[in-house]
Amino acid sequence: MKTYLVTGGAGFIGSNYVLYLLERYPQVKVINVDVLTYAGNLENLKSIEGDPRHFFVQADICDRAAVQKLFQDHDVDYLVNFAAESHVDRSILDPQVFVQTNVSGTLNLLQCAKEAWQIGEDEYKPGVKFLQVSTDEVYGSLGAEGFFTEQTPLDPHSPYSASKASADLLTKAFYDTYRLPINITRCSNNYGPFQFPEKLIPLMLNNALQHRELPVYGDGLQIRDWLYVEDHCQAVELVLRDGAVGEVYNIGGHNERTNLEIVGQIIAYLRQEADSAVGEHLIRHVIDRKGHDRRYGIDPTKISEALGWSPQTAFEQGIRKTIKWYLDNHDWVEHVTSGSYRDYYQRLYEGR
Ligand code: NAD
Ligand code: TYD
Repeated sequence: MKTYLVTGGAGFIGSNYVLYLLERYPQVKVINVDVLTYAGNLENLKSIEGDPRHFFVQADICDRAAVQKLFQDHDVDYLVNFAAESHVDRSILDPQVFVQTNVSGTLNLLQCAKEAWQIGEDEYKPGVKFLQVSTDEVYGSLGAEGFFTEQTPLDPHSPYSASKASADLLTKAFYDTYRLPINITRCSNNYGPFQFPEKLIPLMLNNALQHRELPVYGDGLQIRDWLYVEDHCQAVELVLRDGAVGEVYNIGGHNERTNLEIVGQIIAYLRQEADSAVGEHLIRHVIDRKGHDRRYGIDPTKISEALGWSPQTAFEQGIRKTIKWYLDNHDWVEHVTSGSYRDYYQRLYEGR
């Protein structure tokens, strides 16, 4: 029986990961810590309401006393840190909170984990692990050729990626200095159910369904390497359990697409399956993002050779599943776009 402390477990990837754990392991305890920013949504966890293996705690990862208490109240084996400010455009408008949560929050978690798990000089309770969930964006931008490996130098460009790179360096420092058992994973762009519609795929889907313009930044030929969220969850789980302590693992499945290709695919699917009025005429090329990274592409050789990981979901299958999920879960989309999902916590917990 393992006890997981999952941060950011009401967000997109975190909630998928919590569902993934509870689905696969009957004997598991998940402490889900999330402060519920605009991106946190307890409706993502509706299907596990009342599950005695899941404990939700509304707390800020920057709050020392709150995190210490979690370690005192529960015998934590694994800490998986998903909590973050995650949107590049927001980081360009207001970088401060990115440093607060992504850098100071991660440092606080590292300090609390070290304090709770240390049993001697450079010695920790057996089997514990701190996993920092990071991003390929810390490597910066690629030209037309080549891929990011774990040896690629960090070269972040946006305030978001700079804050994630800082958190990675602090996590590495806790291994180098104190031998805290850590791993860092750097994944490519995720897509799938429960993604907040500020990110490319759900934003375009949602706009298209409402016949609103599809804002493509600049020429739309920027490339991202897409991974279905469940494949990311599986990789995180593998690294947590079997990853060599102190190591970084890149996660990606060689699914590079230009943004225009993604938008085109969403339009084609919606036209065919849902709404014939959706079309290319909705695309608007708008002013480019500042400092926009041109291309991301992951080399996943290390995780596939060392841990036997490979993605299970081909892009065409994953994007169809995702679009179908958004079409079938109209209530979720409606609550998110109207903002009424913010009341859900109150109805769920405070109304009792
Ligand atoms: P998200 O924005 O959907 O969710 C973030 C969650 O963290 C939200 O539930 C939010 O309420 C919570 N949170 C924010 N600040 C907090 C704080 N101070 N204390 C406690 N909780 C807080 O993000 P996501 O897309 O699910 O990304 C999760 C993690 O994965 C992030 O660390 C991100 O950098 C990383 N990542 C994301 C992608 C991607 O494509 N989305 C790719 C690679 C890595
Ligand atoms: P995004 O989903 O914000 O992820 P990230 O910036 O972390 O890769 O954006 C993915 C790509 O889509 C990126 O190149 C920016 C582009 N984009 C648009 O062209 N229009 C949009 O409205 C958004 C949100 C993103």
